[in-house]
Amino acid sequence: MVTPIKMKLLQAGSKQLHSRYLYDHIRKCLSSATTPRSTRMGTGHGGLMPPGDDALIAGSTPDLVRSLRSQVEVKPHFITEEEECALMEELEPGLRKKRYEFDHWDDAIHGYRETERVSWGLACAGVLTRVRSVAFPEGGLLLGPVHILDLDKAGYIKPHIDSVKFCGSTIAGLSLLSDSVMRLVREGSGDERLELLLPRRSLYILRDQARYDFNHEILKDEESVFRGRRIPRQRRISVICRNLPS
Ligand code: OGA
Ligand code: MN
Repeated sequence: MVTPIKMKLLQAGSKQLHSRYLYDHIRKCLSSATTPRSTRMGTGHGGLMPPGDDALIAGSTPDLVRSLRSQVEVKPHFITEEEECALMEELEPGLRKKRYEFDHWDDAIHGYRETERVSWGLACAGVLTRVRSVAFPEGGLLLGPVHILDLDKAGYIKPHIDSVKFCGSTIAGLSLLSDSVMRLVREGSGDERLELLLPRRSLYILRDQARYDFNHEILKDEESVFRGRRIPRQRRISVICRNLPS
């Protein structure tokens, strides 16, 4: 674990240039006017789901949850603690050389550093094969490099839709180191919302309408609440696979 103090030292010692724009081209940040931040979805709302994996998805209405059921998945315990460690061992040395970006108000992401990776060690390659086999149809073309996004504890992702020019119909992400809450809001209609609880070591998948018609965001620590329950946000790393537009 890198403590905040250690992080400061690492940043101070780092001479490497950071690549702020690495993944800018895949995100279209939406203006806050289209994404009103209305009430959170607590237990009083109609979108309550039966227990099981569905307990990780809350919607503004049961109909909305039903209509997106095949397009939004959260799979808890998708990787083991050992696999999380193997991923961290591969990713941490490279990430540590970059610094977190905080001060660009126009960025879709606040408090982050990112990289991409094409080739992996054996343990990690196995995990990625599993992600791809559950998330993407066989034979489809995938975006070669896997995207790694490291959010500081104070970092968050603002509402955006991934570029339709660079990314296809499916986005699949592993969450490492921290639980978090992802919110989806239908573009142009703040009333239609889903919230996903993304437990540490889970995999989420967004497909089709959920990916094209809804913006997604990762809530900041102060707002990180799911069904009325506070979900503390720590540093969080996501490992994201995407396919190519067809
Ligand atoms: C992105 C994004 C989500 C995540 O990088 O475009 O939405 O899980 N990331 O980190
Ligand atoms: Mn995105």
